[in-house]
Amino acid sequence: MKPKIAVIARVGAHQAFEAQGLKPEKTEVFPTPYGASRPVHFFRHENLDFAVLSRHGEAGYDLSAPFLNPRANLYALKALGVDKILAWVAPGSLQEEMAPGDLVVPHDVLDEGRGGPHTFFSGVGWGFIRHNPLFCPELRTALIDGLQGVPFKVHPQGVYVATTGPRLETVAEIRKFCLLGGDLVGQTLVPEVFLARELELCYAALTYVVNYGEGLLDRPYQPGVLFEGLATPGEMAKVAAVEAAFPELILRILPPLAATTRACPCPRLLERYRLRGDIGEDWRTWVK
Ligand code: HPA
Repeated sequence: MKPKIAVIARVGAHQAFEAQGLKPEKTEVFPTPYGASRPVHFFRHENLDFAVLSRHGEAGYDLSAPFLNPRANLYALKALGVDKILAWVAPGSLQEEMAPGDLVVPHDVLDEGRGGPHTFFSGVGWGFIRHNPLFCPELRTALIDGLQGVPFKVHPQGVYVATTGPRLETVAEIRKFCLLGGDLVGQTLVPEVFLARELELCYAALTYVVNYGEGLLDRPYQPGVLFEGLATPGEMAKVAAVEAAFPELILRILPPLAATTRACPCPRLLERYRLRGDIGEDWRTWVK
């Protein structure tokens, strides 16, 4: 089976699909020049082949954001023939209107992190890629349309502020990110989205808010509970409802995402370098 679309999710996503009665056709870990990918699970649902990869772990949260290997994961998916990626991401909110349990389809990113590596193109003269639109416009439109009628509030836009992690932010940092025009704050979308563009992949993100950013609302410190009290039990229950809906949501939106025509800029993000003769047709020769 040759999936053209992949979901990069958080933890144990394959199990969520299995619980819906889907059986993975196979699971593979791919060696890449950047190290091994996370396991890639291959599913088929109503004649649609798709791949699923969990960034942080197969059963539990084993790897925090700065230690992920998005280059290996994206390289593996591209090598498999995948050309569209849906990223499932769980950020904090910088806006009272974007509440825990809401879905947000970000349209832009503010990179405030210090992580790396942020590029496949080390020691070469290419990679000066325009980042507007940052996310695939066709996938974003299909995603927003496909989410109509879901039982969650959907925000069709949002600026995602990327931090390094794994720590959460200080009050002053969150205040700064709000002043900068951020709507969400998280640790995983960067560098993944930038790297996906270097491989000319269509990439869009579906995020669900898991907490309000530090200091946005009055939240007493509570040792021993999730985020030390940053989220209330009521908010956590809303988040749990979205998490429980994850496989259903994905199965609903994958067909329209798979049907996009790639008439977007994504397949030709490096065209200038191709025309200049810097890079050839085989993408494996562009990287490393
Ligand atoms: N900050 C950074 N990353 C996050 C947060 C947050 O508040 N919530 C979930 N991921």
